[in-house]
Amino acid sequence: MQSGLAHRPWYGSMGFAMSTESENPFRPEYFRREDESPDVLFYREPRLVVHIDDRAIEAVGEYFSTSLPSEGIILDLMSSWRSHLPADFERERLIGLGLNGVELAENPQLDDRVLADINTVRGLPFRDNSLHAVVITVSIQYVTHPVEIFREVHRVLEDRGSFHIIYSNRMFPTKATAIWRSLDDYEHAQLINAYFAVSGGWEQPRVLDISPQPKGASDPVYVVSARKVAE
Ligand SMILES: C[S@@+](CC[C@H](N)C(=O)[O-])C[C@H]1O[C@@H](n2cnc3c(N)ncnc32)[C@H](O)[C@@H]1O
Repeated sequence: MQSGLAHRPWYGSMGFAMSTESENPFRPEYFRREDESPDVLFYREPRLVVHIDDRAIEAVGEYFSTSLPSEGIILDLMSSWRSHLPADFERERLIGLGLNGVELAENPQLDDRVLADINTVRGLPFRDNSLHAVVITVSIQYVTHPVEIFREVHRVLEDRGSFHIIYSNRMFPTKATAIWRSLDDYEHAQLINAYFAVSGGWEQPRVLDISPQPKGASDPVYVVSARKVAE
């Protein structure tokens, strides 16, 4: 299910369209947040709630069922107590990395659980080329060093491994970056495309609007994804 968003060009009006990965248009102030206290404090209490409505969750599950590799090792980055994979989805392993141990322990789909703060710890704790796919679901707005994280995801993915960023329009505003808060849904796709472009080494990203129809009857859901270029 593709809508108009999938066919619109990603670069344009925001002043950070770029043609090569060497140009980094992001200034540190773009990633400031109202609440600059350590993320572990904000996420100390487990939130065993869902962050998008049921129909939006169903759309994410359908997307995963057709877009993630079966039998692969998948990393759910910024994971919580639900990963939204279809119940019968075949995979070798699903690894969850998040900030709250109770949330991860309550996630029945995870095979491995990693506690880490990706905004402070530089580097993901996985070997080069060791994963088949990585997802970030409704959490990219909290990432304060996205270019570094995209480079790390690129490092840990196998050649042609895929990275899927799923987003909606809800957030904890005090923890979302200034740039995310200043942009709309369409511009968020452009922003994520720019993260891919600046971090480098990716095939052309694909932008999809997988929002349940009719639009507006549930939370919107968008995906920006790309594959690691094969060496
Ligand atoms: C809005 S929830 C989304 C959870 C889940 N991905 C989902 O689809 O429901 C944001 C999650 O991101 C995780 N998170 C937030 N900041 C993080 C950070 N700095 N490092 C690692 N995980 C983080 C939190 O543990 C929290 O569970």
